[in-house]
Amino acid sequence: MTKRAVVCGVGHYLPDRVVPNSEFEKTLDTSDEWIRTRSGIERRHFAAEDERTSDLALQAATRALAQGGVDPQTIDGIVVATSTPDLTFPSVATMVQARLGITRGFAFDVQAVCAGFVFALANATALIVSGQASRVIVIGAETFSRIMDWSDRGTCVLFGDGAGALVLEAVDAEGSSEDRGVLASDLNSDGRYKDILFVDGGVSATQTTGVLRMEGKEVFRHAVEKLAETAHTALDKAGLTPDDVAWVVPHQANLRIIKRTAQKMGIGMDRVVVTVQNHGNTSAASIPLALSVAASEGKIKAGDVIVTEAIGGGLSWGSVVLRW
Ligand code: UT7
Repeated sequence: MTKRAVVCGVGHYLPDRVVPNSEFEKTLDTSDEWIRTRSGIERRHFAAEDERTSDLALQAATRALAQGGVDPQTIDGIVVATSTPDLTFPSVATMVQARLGITRGFAFDVQAVCAGFVFALANATALIVSGQASRVIVIGAETFSRIMDWSDRGTCVLFGDGAGALVLEAVDAEGSSEDRGVLASDLNSDGRYKDILFVDGGVSATQTTGVLRMEGKEVFRHAVEKLAETAHTALDKAGLTPDDVAWVVPHQANLRIIKRTAQKMGIGMDRVVVTVQNHGNTSAASIPLALSVAASEGKIKAGDVIVTEAIGGGLSWGSVVLRW
C-alpha cells in the first residue's frame, strides 16, 4: 500500500485582453505570418494594468476547487510556480492562501521558470506521498507581459499571461502503474546554460525587475534534445511506454518544438494537447492551462495516462507522468 497524489480538481484563468499577432505589426518589424510559422502563436492574453499574478492564480485556484467540489478549508498546502511574483516577497502562494480564507497549512512559491509547474507538481506530490499534506493546490501563474522588452521582436511576440491550477489529493493506492495520480517524475537543471535565457535585473544584482533576454535558437536546440529524453525517463520510471500515453501535455513555447518532441517520442499529434496558438508562452502557467482547457473540452478523461514535459531558464527541465 502506498499513497498517490491524485488530481481532484482543475481550473484556469486568462485575462480578458486578447492580443492578436497583428498588433505587433504596428510597432515592430514583424508579421503575423512570421510569428505563426516560426512559433505557432496566433494570439495571447495580457493582464490588465491592475491585475497581478496573485489575481490570476486566485481565479485559477478558485475554479479548480469549484470544479472538484473541494472546500478550501480542507486544503493544507498551496504551491505556486511563478517567475513573475507580485512582490519580491512574500510568496504569491501566501497571497492566494489569505484570499481563499485559509489560515493553516503551508504556502510557498517554486521558481524554475517555464519548467516551474513540473517542478511544483513533483514537489507537491513528494509532500503528499510522505504524509505531510493531504490536499494541495498546485498553481502555475505568470504575468510575463511585465518583463518584456517591447523593442525586442525576438522575444516580446512570444509570451502571454495566464494561470492554471490542479487540486491534488492523497489517495491510498497499490503502488502500480495502474494507479491513478502522479506515477513518476524526472527533474533536471544545468546552470551552465544560465546565459541563454534570463532576466537582466533582480533584487541582489540591480535592484530592478529587468527584462527577458533569450538566445532563441540555442534554447530551441536544447528543448528538442532534452524534452523527449526527460519524458522517456519519467515514463520508464512509471513502468509505462509511449503506447500507454493518452495525452502529451507539453510546455507551450513553440509548435515546432512540440511537434519534434512528439515525433521523437513516437506519439502522433492527435495525442498532443496544443494551446500555444491561443495563449502564447505563459511559462509556468502553460501546462496547467493546457490541462484545464483539454479537460474542459472533454479530451482528457479519468484513467488517461498524461505526460507533461517542459524546459526553461536555468536551464531547468523535466517531466511528470500521471494517470488522470
Ligand atoms: O519557454 C522557455 C523556452 N523557450 C523556448 O522554447 C523558445 C525557443 N526558441 C524558439 O521558439 C525560436 O528560436 C524562436 C521562435 C524564438 C525564433 O525562431 P527561429 O527559427 O529560431 O528564428 P531565429 O531566432 O533564428 O531568427 C530567424 C530570423 C532572424 O533574422 P536573420 O538574422 O535571419 O536576418 C531574426 O532576426 O528571424 C528574425 N526574427 C524575426 N522576424 C520577424 C526574429 N524575431 C522575429 C520577429 N519577426 N518577431
